[in-house]
Parts: sequence; structure tokens; C-alpha cells
Amino acid sequence: MNYRHAYHAGNFADCMKHALLVWLLRALARKPAGFAVLDTHAGAGSTNLEADAATRTGEWRQGIGRLLDAKPAEALADYLGLVRAAGAIAHYPGSPRLTRTLLRPQDRLTCCELQLQDHASLHRLFRGDPQVAVHARDGWEAICALLPPREARRGLTLIDPPFEQPGEFDRIVRAIRTARRRFGAGIVAAWYPIKHRAPVRDFHDRLRQAAEPDVVCAELLLRPPLDAARLNGCGLLVAAPPWGFEPAATAILDAVADGLGESGAHGSLTRITPPVAP
Ligand SMILES: C[S@@+](CC[C@H](N)C(=O)[O-])C[C@H]1O[C@@H](n2cnc3c(N)ncnc32)[C@H](O)[C@@H]1O
Repeated sequence: MNYRHAYHAGNFADCMKHALLVWLLRALARKPAGFAVLDTHAGAGSTNLEADAATRTGEWRQGIGRLLDAKPAEALADYLGLVRAAGAIAHYPGSPRLTRTLLRPQDRLTCCELQLQDHASLHRLFRGDPQVAVHARDGWEAICALLPPREARRGLTLIDPPFEQPGEFDRIVRAIRTARRRFGAGIVAAWYPIKHRAPVRDFHDRLRQAAEPDVVCAELLLRPPLDAARLNGCGLLVAAPPWGFEPAATAILDAVADGLGESGAHGSLTRITPPVAP
């Protein structure tokens, strides 16, 4: 494993994913019953963006750095408020830390992280926290092993792989199937990169063929995806999105595109499959 998220923390892709994640968690917290979150590729939990790794790429300066400096868009206010409260640039919160902030006493978080240093940081961050479990285990395998959660009948599985190996799109399609078979009431959210259009079209086709109901893809393009060597955008697939997701996600994507995109930047929502009829 070569990937270290510290080089990319706080970039536009993190901003988009984390703003949508915050919305999904707030939606789960609308009901009093507890929920469980499985974060299959959790990262270190918190990153100092002024430390060595993040400064070497400087990706965060074109991401959270710009959003924090700009006049805040209403759709991003909740996410940016949580980032500021966590310590902003000195402690940019990754998905597990953002999730932990939004857990109520009846909710639980389970994190998987294979990279040893990132796992150690995550372990330190949540040491002694009875609501959080941290595992040094394969997140793909955890979908089978840890779902359904024992503690709750509702919840979210976040799948956020590094996309450093071929076949990650296929793995996501299979993982969504497994997650839903094992935890039918749960939401599944999976992040994916957009470098050029063909792999994304193919991914949408394979999702349609898999015929999983109620799947939506929220996508952000910073620029037209013409140079396949660049990360031109990214998407978050959401299976079983909570009520109100589509308009809320549209507003979030538009705000990130306005704040961080080049000319022609835009967000889009694609409904891949319809919900099951009541
Ligand atoms: C994109 S980063 C996660 C970022 C994090 N979810 C966030 O939003 O802040 C992907 C992480 O997955 C870890 N990883 C890679 N392969 C893994 C696997 N099979 N199981 C668990 N973690 C893995 C990497 O070390 C990396 O920290």
C-alpha cells in the first residue's frame, strides 16, 4: 500500500465527500433510534495540513483553504462549522472524526484502517471512547464480517478506497451488493474518482446491471474531464439516500463547484435506479 491520505487531506474531493457525509449523518440523527456507521477505509482521523505531507502537495490550499477563506455558502455552513470547531487547518477532520462529532450517546462508529501509522493515529484519537471501535483490518472484508451491526437497525456504510489498484469500481459494485444483502436498512455511500468519462459511464452501467434499487450518484466536475492524468472531479454513490438528499446534495455540489471549480465546473445528480415502490 503506497497511498497516504495525508497528502490529499482537505482537497476538493475531501470537501465534497465530507460535506455530503455531514448531511447524511444529520439525516440519520433526525430519528431518535440509534444508528451505526461503518467507515471501511477510515484514514488517520485528523490531519495537520501545515505539516510535511500536506504541504508537499498543497492540495488543501485549493480545497478547504479556499472554502474557509471565502464567504460561506449556506449549503456548506454546517460542514465548515464542524471543520472550524475541530481546529480547521491544524486538525482537519477526516471522515471518522466528523462522524464522531455527530454521534449521539445511542450511536456507534466502527473504523477500519490498514495503514499502520494511520491506524495508530486513529487508535490514539479514539482511545477509551466507548462509542468507537478501531480495527486494523481490511475494510472490504469488514463489510461481510461486521454487517449488520449488533447495536442498531439503521446506519451508514462509508466506502472510501484509495483507488490505487485496478478493479476498484468493480469492487464497489460488489461491496454495495454485500452491504445491502447483510444490512438492508442501511445507507451505503461510496466515493470514486473522475479522471475521464469512460470509466464513470461504465461504472453507472454496471450499477444498473446489478439492479440494486434506489441508487443515486452525486458528482462534481472541477473542469471538463479531458486530461485523464488529472483528478478532474469525483463522485459519491449513495444507495438508499434519506429523504431530501437530492436537493440538498445539488446545493452542496453547486457550492463546492462555485468555490473551487474552474470555468465550466458543475455538480450533477444521476439517479441510477429508482426506489422500491412502497
Ligand atoms: C481515501 S483514504 C480515506 C479517507 C477517509 N475516509 C476520510 O474521508 O477522511 C483511504 C484509506 O484507506 C486505507 N486503506 C487502503 N486499503 C485498505 C483496506 N483494504 N482496508 C482498510 N483500509 C485501507 C488507506 O491507508 C487510506 O488511509
